[in-house]
Amino acid sequence: MSSAELRKKFLDFFKKRGHKIAPSSSLIPDDPSVLLTTAGMQQFKKYYTEPSLAPAPNVASVQKCFRTSDIDEVGDESHLTFFEMLGNFSFGGYFKEKAIKYAKEFLESIGLKIDYVTVLNEKGDIEPDKESEEIWRRLGIKDIRKAGREDNFWGPTGAEGPCGPTTEIYINGVEIWNIVFNEYYKKPDGSFEKLKTPGVDTGMGLERLAMVSQGKKNIFETDLFAQYFELLPKELPEKIKRIIVDHSRAITFLINDGVRPLNKEAGYVLRRLIRRVMAIETTHNLKSHIFDSLLHDMAHSYGDFYPELLRKSNNIQDEIQKERAKFGKSLDKGIQEMKKDIQALDEKRAFDLYQTYGLPFEVIKDVVGGLRGSELNRNKFEEEIKKHQKISRAGVEKKFGGHGLLLDTGELKAKDEEELKKVIRLHTATHLLQAALRKVLGDGVKQAGSDITAERIRFDFTYDRKLTDEEIKKIEGLVNLAISKKYQVEMKEISYEEALKAGALHFFKEKYPENVKVYSVGDFRADPPEIFSRELCGGPHVKNTSEIGQFKILKQEAIGSGARRLRAIVMS
Ligand code: SER
Repeated sequence: MSSAELRKKFLDFFKKRGHKIAPSSSLIPDDPSVLLTTAGMQQFKKYYTEPSLAPAPNVASVQKCFRTSDIDEVGDESHLTFFEMLGNFSFGGYFKEKAIKYAKEFLESIGLKIDYVTVLNEKGDIEPDKESEEIWRRLGIKDIRKAGREDNFWGPTGAEGPCGPTTEIYINGVEIWNIVFNEYYKKPDGSFEKLKTPGVDTGMGLERLAMVSQGKKNIFETDLFAQYFELLPKELPEKIKRIIVDHSRAITFLINDGVRPLNKEAGYVLRRLIRRVMAIETTHNLKSHIFDSLLHDMAHSYGDFYPELLRKSNNIQDEIQKERAKFGKSLDKGIQEMKKDIQALDEKRAFDLYQTYGLPFEVIKDVVGGLRGSELNRNKFEEEIKKHQKISRAGVEKKFGGHGLLLDTGELKAKDEEELKKVIRLHTATHLLQAALRKVLGDGVKQAGSDITAERIRFDFTYDRKLTDEEIKKIEGLVNLAISKKYQVEMKEISYEEALKAGALHFFKEKYPENVKVYSVGDFRADPPEIFSRELCGGPHVKNTSEIGQFKILKQEAIGSGARRLRAIVMS
């Protein structure tokens, strides 16, 4: 069965059984506990704790997913960075009996037979999943294997959240479907609490399903990939071909969802993928048009199911061109430098090459490959990065006078009371600036970083072109209008979930605590209240915008592709 048919059959099957079909959410998640969307359940996560908010009790989707954790495995038979996940979900609609029955029925409806299943066998703070075992037995499955929580327990995606036992389905020795029963809520202290309404979250990789359905030995032989291999020179090693094809597909979807090559977070994941393909081009003498044709063909053939790829396919080529212009020269120099003394190339030297030439770890590892006695270790490389960050942070603190700072949140820095007062005014102005940017340029604008000293605001955000003078004027005007309206600044401590519901902007962070501070700026006495800005933030802020003074944007700059920097000041 073709992959297009498999997607369709899956959605039709669940639609017929009372599921609402949800479109895939973006690879950039709303959920700050992860950098990129890693599972179908992410866009529905909040419904497991608040089923009443769900648009329907049962939903099904085909979700675009990305797993950074598998990057080193790409090239083997079944690992990918980007993949598509088929999933059915329930938030109080049905539970184990139906979920298991549906899975078996669906697989049979497309002519597949289950080899064996696994269920959770665990004692202690969570219970063994006897119920699932019993259901499988009743449905005639004889080979039921048991495993502990390392294998048969899923979630939460952050420090806390819904989670529970899983039962996994295997066909031809490959795990193809993971069914999660969200029965628990894991609290930040590590303890489990039973959820009021247990839920279902299932995930089946489309690539693996296509592999068993099409009788192929590995995912790359399926119709999802096979055509792209034909664009690559025959003599290229198989592993390299797989890396190029996987990365090209991931790059296509990441750029399409608005990720841009940057030096941090999701942007850095993308940059690493692009640079790795570029390095392969150099070391294997590949013409650049091959990569360009791959991206072009992928956007077009995946565009049948993901029409957003057709609407913005030019962006993809543009971003690659920009990254080529930026990295091309230093890539050649870096590779030459790297080859000078491969035997002495340890993780520290790898870090120097990364610092000087922008070579990502994978690129160095690919080139060094078998040429050295021992493999380079990713963890050790990352330790080098951390060490360096500590040293540069110390440098910043020294610049601030060396007596330590009165305030240093990473974002805000002030060395005495006087600076502190100014920094607070600038900080509230930064919230107004972000709100104004979104009002003028659209909600696609996301904060990418900020740095506030007593002298100025430096604010980075995602946007893919230079702002016109008129736009700058408008943004500045909106901020000054908010100041002249003498808006109140109100802080509320609420749960993280509630904050997101209230539409508070947030900046990606590893994890947020259960309760967060939300700062809103507006006229709360108006009916209905007029809200100019709302953000998750630690403070401190002024009480009223009239304290800020006049706001002025001094300068805009490009910082890497897809992101811009504004510098602004306030005057009394
Ligand atoms: N969340 C589970 C997974 O990603 C099932 O969808 O495997």
